[in-house]
Amino acid sequence: MKLQDKVMIITGASSGIGRATARQLDTLGVHLILTARRKDKLEQIASELHSAVCIAGDMTDPSLPEQLVEAAVSKYGRLDIVFNNAGVMHIGTVDDADINALCHMVRLNVEAVVRMSYTALRHMKKQGSGFLINTSSLAGMKSFPEIGPYCGTKYAVEAMTDSFRMELAGTGVKVTAIEPGRTRTGLFDHWSEEKQFNPAEGMIEPEDIARSIQFILEQPDEVLIPRLLIVPARQPR
Ligand SMILES: NC(=O)c1ccc[n+]([C@@H]2O[C@H](COP(=O)([O-])OP(=O)(O)OC[C@H]3O[C@@H](n4cnc5c(N)ncnc54)[C@H](OP(=O)(O)O)[C@@H]3O)[C@@H](O)[C@H]2O)c1
Repeated sequence: MKLQDKVMIITGASSGIGRATARQLDTLGVHLILTARRKDKLEQIASELHSAVCIAGDMTDPSLPEQLVEAAVSKYGRLDIVFNNAGVMHIGTVDDADINALCHMVRLNVEAVVRMSYTALRHMKKQGSGFLINTSSLAGMKSFPEIGPYCGTKYAVEAMTDSFRMELAGTGVKVTAIEPGRTRTGLFDHWSEEKQFNPAEGMIEPEDIARSIQFILEQPDEVLIPRLLIVPARQPR
């Protein structure tokens, strides 16, 4: 895909991987619809870019995916790419995990991804072209102690993304799961100090994931990367 003048929605665009991807694709001439809850952050990012519209909102609001697609179509007449990326990570032991936070995570990391995926794919299928990238994780491939519900949300993203890929083969609509390992973002900011990762095992930067998103999108029409795992070279798991 040639990225110049393509129209792209990015969810979770106010920080981390979403923000880095917005900046990367902006340099290639992509028109961006950015969303997240923090309007001030979104507007700050958009003000640095050439062509970005902000629609602040909570992805667990069932009406938001349709609003995002409508914004793309009314402004540009089309929607080429959705980076379905907003997510949170709550962890904890059987004894100390916050059950309400875990269940809210399931709504955001799974339910909202389902709504955004179907809303975008219906539009793209009619259009006869489009690209959906869902953010999974290394945790979408294997489970770890105290992180089970988060891993479960990403297993769900893996399953639905691969199912969409097979269903839509030959329609002109492509679907990929990106699978980052530990990436230096705001995802762990709310964790207590003793839960933080061992810095000796390294972290990749959100810009590393943004370059991978570009790589996935720029493949020729006949090529699809269904999943892409990117981990710190020093991460032993
Ligand atoms: N960092 C890693 O090591 C890593 C590894 C594998 C996968 N991932 C995945 O990468 C994705 C992006 O996370 P990140 O690492 O870039 O973390 P981040 O910096 O915390 O970014 C998360 C983004 O999601 C948005 N968000 C959170 N709750 C939301 C809600 N209810 N409605 C709408 N937007 C919401 C946040 O914006 P607001 O707070 O402004 O709403 C923010 O823009 C997530 O799906 C995460 O699971 C991250």
